[in-house]
Amino acid sequence: ANHPIIAKAHTNIALVKYWGKLDNQLIIPQNDSLSITLDEFYTQTAVEFLPSLTADEVIFDGQVLSDQASLRVRTFLNHVRDLAGIDYRAKVDTKNFVPTAAGLASSASGFAALAGAASRAAGLNLNRRDLSRLARLGSGSATRSIFGGFVAWQQGHDDATSFAYPIDEQPTWDIAVVALVLTAKQKKISSRVGMRLAVETSPFYSAWISASQADFKTVKTAIQNQDFELLGHTSEQNAMRMHALTLSSDPNFTYFNADSIKAMNMVKDLRLQGIPCYFTMDAGPNVKIICQGADAERIAQYFQTEFGEEQVLVTRPGSGISISD
Ligand code: DP6
Repeated sequence: ANHPIIAKAHTNIALVKYWGKLDNQLIIPQNDSLSITLDEFYTQTAVEFLPSLTADEVIFDGQVLSDQASLRVRTFLNHVRDLAGIDYRAKVDTKNFVPTAAGLASSASGFAALAGAASRAAGLNLNRRDLSRLARLGSGSATRSIFGGFVAWQQGHDDATSFAYPIDEQPTWDIAVVALVLTAKQKKISSRVGMRLAVETSPFYSAWISASQADFKTVKTAIQNQDFELLGHTSEQNAMRMHALTLSSDPNFTYFNADSIKAMNMVKDLRLQGIPCYFTMDAGPNVKIICQGADAERIAQYFQTEFGEEQVLVTRPGSGISISD
């Protein structure tokens, strides 16, 4: 193409978490994972390979990134160049669309959008399975952001067999996610570093693998039967099992802050009041609440009173990647 290719990909939130790699280079995970793609949060990325450029240029939310800050993107572009058999450098212009500035931006939507735009700009026309394999080389969770709705990432055992597939792209039941933005003060331990510590040092790691493989089957069944309580309960248990790995790593750490714990207790209070809702957390203090659409506004208001209006965002299942011609 002689114009930039633009791709848009949504972020996703794992109901059964990916936490640990078998292969750190190819990003082959230790277990199957399962997520829901979210409508409100997405990344839009434009890519153009140009003979006139002598180096890759990466713009992120309007700022040109330093060599250090753009390293992961440039490494990813090398994969794309290898695959397409081209040598041109690229201009990458990426924007994150997240309702508030803090905390929910994600490498999942970022590397999914980059995989879509860069591969097509390089002249490749990959199907969605191959796009998910390519996105995986950027960030594990990006593998799942190629598809919409409920998505599984099959662990596989090598580059060819580790990819995502849709479970229910357009769910017909009304599911919502209420995201609480609870910003961190302490220095963040990246998921890349955190999961490596778990694999190498947590004595509970093998128990995590067997538990999460069972959770994966249960959540899949819950989606097929549209069994909200089974889906929510299993997802919440799975998230806490993952977070038990941070506490049992050496050095130990946690992604929880005081507000995270407060929010998780509030979710349990809501359940005692008869409102079915369940929490999950990733590699940061934000809490995401899985609920049924009909309860979303009421739940959001309950948390807005505690954490402020701007801190609470309601979102629904979103669509898979879209790429311009
Ligand atoms: C807790 O995909 O960010 O969100 O593959 O090292 O880039 P890398 O890690 P990343 O890890 C995501 C971890 C998680 C769980 C999940 O999304 O499954």
